[in-house]
Amino acid sequence: MIQTSACLRNLLTQSLHPGSSLSKLAAYFCYTCRLASSLQQEHKLSDYSDNEYADLDWDNLGFGITPADYMYITKCSKDKNFEQGKLSRYGNIGLSPSAGVLNYGQGLYEGTKAYRTEEGRILVFRPDQNAMRMKMGAERMCMPSPSIDQFVDAVKQIALVNKRWVPPPGKGALYIRPLLVGSGPVLGLAPAPEYMFLVYASPVGNYFKEGSAPLNLYIEEDFVRATPGGAGGVKTIGNYAPVLKALTRAKNRGFSDVLYLDSVHRKYLEEVSSCNIFIVKGNVISTPATNGTILEGITRKSVIDIAHDHGYQVEERLIPVDELIDADEVFCTGTAVVLAPVGSITYKNRRIEFRTGAGSACQELYSTLVGIQTGLIEDKKGWTIEIPHQIN
Ligand SMILES: Cc1ncc(COP(=O)(O)O)c(C=O)c1O
Repeated sequence: MIQTSACLRNLLTQSLHPGSSLSKLAAYFCYTCRLASSLQQEHKLSDYSDNEYADLDWDNLGFGITPADYMYITKCSKDKNFEQGKLSRYGNIGLSPSAGVLNYGQGLYEGTKAYRTEEGRILVFRPDQNAMRMKMGAERMCMPSPSIDQFVDAVKQIALVNKRWVPPPGKGALYIRPLLVGSGPVLGLAPAPEYMFLVYASPVGNYFKEGSAPLNLYIEEDFVRATPGGAGGVKTIGNYAPVLKALTRAKNRGFSDVLYLDSVHRKYLEEVSSCNIFIVKGNVISTPATNGTILEGITRKSVIDIAHDHGYQVEERLIPVDELIDADEVFCTGTAVVLAPVGSITYKNRRIEFRTGAGSACQELYSTLVGIQTGLIEDKKGWTIEIPHQIN
């Protein structure tokens, strides 16, 4: 079947117009052939074509690691292109003790989700945007990056071969984690001589232990997350360990997460440890402008788009912390958190409370975003990518 598909594809692609249905069929064969060849070494295709669910308590998924069966790995040397990736069982990877990522933090990560629709289709949300963000981040971190096509293809392969780990509709999503790291050995401070692009996945439920209940955020006054000219705007692994101190301290005091202020004036809202922030006042929805210290969230971008469609005025600008006092609503956005309502923010020992629940802008935007992600609402924006259901 693999060889037949490859032959058919070759025959078809030589003579077809792009976009024709036969051409799409050819592209499909091309995709399944590549998948088949990545799998050929260790596993039979029949291993991947079952429709069953993994044995998991789907009603109680949190945001912990439950590794799905397979991961994708490819490597490349500096100034070369990444080789064709291979799928293997999820497991430990070997790294030199002097790998660039271990010694100098040369690494980036991404996150996207695959959802199962009511009819059993599997949809991945905007992986091309993750691919582009990784490309920009890689440039900042002096790393080569996979092409957009290779990135998206790897994500699709991972969703397909791990499809039994995609939760039932409404129970969560398969979180897909692409990683790009300097894997080659280096001693003097310099870019690593070799890089690894790896994708693994884990089924997840709610990010916060609060579930869908409103979050209580704490505004950090001692620590900052990013500085102008630094790397706060890219998803480098080095942006995350430094927030652990503030995050742990806030959680120990009963807060859900930390909201950071800008590092220069200590006055303007930036973002939360792993999500963006929005405030709502009347018909105006505002979010901090991205200027290199804030991650340009894909959910942020999608929510801005949806808010426009819903008739809101959206402003990307500097937001002084004092504006929170007058805000009607506050919410967070991110792949992991989706759209999470904020019930309170504590700043300088003062707790400011916000409207949440029925009739809120947050809930309205959440319904549309999740509707598109899960196939309940027609995706007129071309944001979702459907994963072929079966490998022939
Ligand atoms: C620091 C930070 N801000 C914002 C986000 C939200 O980005 P996205 O919506 O692309 O997941 C994330 C998560 O990826 C993040 O780590």
